[in-house]
Amino acid sequence: MAMQRTLVIVKPDGVQRGLVGPILSRLEARGLKIVGLKLVSVSSDLAARHYAEHLGKPFYEGLLRYITSAPVVVACVEGTSAVQMVRSTVGATNPLNAAPGTIRADFALDIGRNLIHASDAPETADRELALWFGDGELVSYARDTDRWVFE
Ligand code: RTP
Ligand code: MG
Repeated sequence: MAMQRTLVIVKPDGVQRGLVGPILSRLEARGLKIVGLKLVSVSSDLAARHYAEHLGKPFYEGLLRYITSAPVVVACVEGTSAVQMVRSTVGATNPLNAAPGTIRADFALDIGRNLIHASDAPETADRELALWFGDGELVSYARDTDRWVFE
């Protein structure tokens, strides 16, 4: 299984509701390693570049208003098949369809306030990480527990 890095954003509702800790905790508890972390006030330019694939969709304007409405916490997490691991921990886009035990099922109700973003494929992760993190902001390091998490 390949090691991967992926982008996680605790969206404005997650920060406002005091759920940064509980959300990141779910990822840390799974064994994923945080290798980048910061609080960001999202500019409309960054929001538009991040959500370029949704340009023209009915929810696009509301999505941009939402993501720029208050600070977000952005993280890069690393681990075995991290892209898919994080997506499965996050749950379906609409909390209504998210499996119990996933972040969106356990903490959210509305598709437009679904708390967290996670890259949907390795290529997306590379593009998004380059968008949100500058050179030197991602840190490679070993944890004493790594051998108890990774075979
Ligand atoms: P994300 O990108 O935030 O991780 O979510 P996702 O892959 O599960 O969903 P995506 O299709 O990429 O949609 C991005 C975000 O747009 C909002 N959305 N609203 N009202 C709607 O029909 C609708 N559809 C999507 C959600 O906040 C979703 O996370
Ligand atoms: Mg998406």
